[in-house]
Amino acid sequence: MSAAPIYLDHQATTPLDERVLQEMLPFLTSEYGNPSSPHAYGRTAARAVRTARRRVADLVGARNEREIVFTSGATEADHLAVVGAALAVRPRGGHLVTTTIEHKAVLAACRRLVDHHGYTLTRVGVDRYGRVHPADIAEALTPRTVLVSVMHANNEIGTLQRLAAVADLTAPRGIVLHTDAAQSAGHGLLDVTELGVDLASLSAHKLHGPKGVGALYVRGGLRLTAQQTGGGQEHGLRAGTPDVPGIVGFGAAAHLITTDAVPPPSRVRALRDRLQRRLLAAIPGATVNGHPHLRLPGNLSLTLPGTEAADLLDRLPDIAASTGSACATGSAEPSHVLTAIGLSRERARATLRLGLGRTTTDADVHRAAELIARTARALSPTPAGAA
Ligand SMILES: Cc1ncc(COP(=O)(O)O)c(C=O)c1O
Repeated sequence: MSAAPIYLDHQATTPLDERVLQEMLPFLTSEYGNPSSPHAYGRTAARAVRTARRRVADLVGARNEREIVFTSGATEADHLAVVGAALAVRPRGGHLVTTTIEHKAVLAACRRLVDHHGYTLTRVGVDRYGRVHPADIAEALTPRTVLVSVMHANNEIGTLQRLAAVADLTAPRGIVLHTDAAQSAGHGLLDVTELGVDLASLSAHKLHGPKGVGALYVRGGLRLTAQQTGGGQEHGLRAGTPDVPGIVGFGAAAHLITTDAVPPPSRVRALRDRLQRRLLAAIPGATVNGHPHLRLPGNLSLTLPGTEAADLLDRLPDIAASTGSACATGSAEPSHVLTAIGLSRERARATLRLGLGRTTTDADVHRAAELIARTARALSPTPAGAA
């Protein structure tokens, strides 16, 4: 029997932590109450949701657990944040600012406001490391700007943004600041109070929790227009019976991080750095995308000139990784993130995204380096160098 492929796609999703599963199980079986019900089953479910809300609030540094609104994931949180915040302050203005490297969920939400509600949008560019310069945000602001959305960590190249410097621009002007923090929250990198953001999108499956659940941090006092109305759940911001097992799992995953029950980010960073060193040494012309230091600890976006990343991965059945170039499932277009940092279409198509995580081992790094280097050299038109 062949061994399972080495999982190097932690930016796409992460495996469910066994301890998280154990906390979820009762809520999938015996504890099936609806948290809105007035009896013992309902009270047990409501208590579990309250605990999870507190745990997620602690993970992101929220002052009050009421600032957490559970959603079906970061996509829905992005939509509620961008559309809900902009519509709530419509009389004050109709201009939005975001960046050229946002996740599609944010870009699509902005596009909806432009196409259906008459907003205007400025997309601020980034430097070759994928960093947004606060001065460029400042230049984009107008008296009609109501919302700025800048992601905390990019899902392709891992670059982290200086959100506190952006908050220094938005807060005094009364502009709402949203960040998509789906990729950063699991590394203990997000403190919404310290960074001064008003809204932050989160996703449980990026931090070893279950899929299909996420949250939006909403700073106390900020008004949003609900995008899903009905029974008034989630402080009236997201109607529908909550996914209790999923929420419990999200809370459990957050709690493991805040109580240091998981390996520190320095461990995965060290493994990533080793893989990076080995691949750069073994593959002539290979380059790393993203910021050299200010990036997610497990992210390694590599351009291997002369290759097609999709071909490379086809020849690497023992490695589970992503091409860095497909901007959406099934799309042949090069990634908008890679082109935004200045890569040609050809270099974008030669880009591989390796995502290391909590479950990555030394042996994985050793074997992955060997397999990727050998295959890339075999595909490259100028084979040279030693393994
Ligand atoms: C930065 C970012 N935002 C949003 C999402 C969407 O998250 P979800 O799968 O929870 O909807 C992802 C995951 O693909 C992501 O990486």
